Amino acid sequence: MEPHLSFVHRFEPGTKSGARPLLLLHGTGGNEDDLVPLAEMIAPGSPMLAPRGKVLENGMPRFFRRLAEGVFDEEDVHRRALELARFIEEARKNYGIGVPVALGYSNGANIAAAVLLLRPTALSGAVLLRSMAPFVRPPEVKLASTPVLILSGARDPIVPAANAARLASALEVAGAVVDHRTLPVGHELSPLDVKIARGWLDSLAAVHGQ
Ligand code: MLT
Repeated sequence: MEPHLSFVHRFEPGTKSGARPLLLLHGTGGNEDDLVPLAEMIAPGSPMLAPRGKVLENGMPRFFRRLAEGVFDEEDVHRRALELARFIEEARKNYGIGVPVALGYSNGANIAAAVLLLRPTALSGAVLLRSMAPFVRPPEVKLASTPVLILSGARDPIVPAANAARLASALEVAGAVVDHRTLPVGHELSPLDVKIARGWLDSLAAVHGQ
């Protein structure tokens, strides 16, 4: 059983020594197990830390409250992003792992973006799958060349292209090194996401030696 930390979570220690840990953040209605198979394809052998979102929307776990689809309760986003950053700290101490790269899908990608914009040192990078801008006016922050991959869907009915572009630009203005690509898919994940995310993480490991 996992120790009692501030989020229900799953931790997998990984098998590849020195591999950068991944923080797995599920989409609406998901849980801590959801992204494990994806992470195993993208970064085999890496340690994985996967919290479950604490907000329930009709019984479906999420990482923050929304007022309608695509309309976020920004005060809640702010509070929950700081709470998640504290959990990352707590879990890093507990499990003895380094600063993770977030792998977030949909609502999980949106909270990862909020953590980047509010607690830039909590993550060493992020793969944001079908992400939106978490804040209408992004906070002023300095992201010291943090690498971020954003994969959007050209036919995504939930994320307008302009919104994903606004997120990419907010992160870039803050100093992140953003690679934003739009794939010929919808909101769902595809084999192309796996291929691109894996290549991107491999190239990070080659540059940063992990
Ligand atoms: C969100 O609420 O974070 C986004 O609309 C994505 C979703 O969860 O559907």
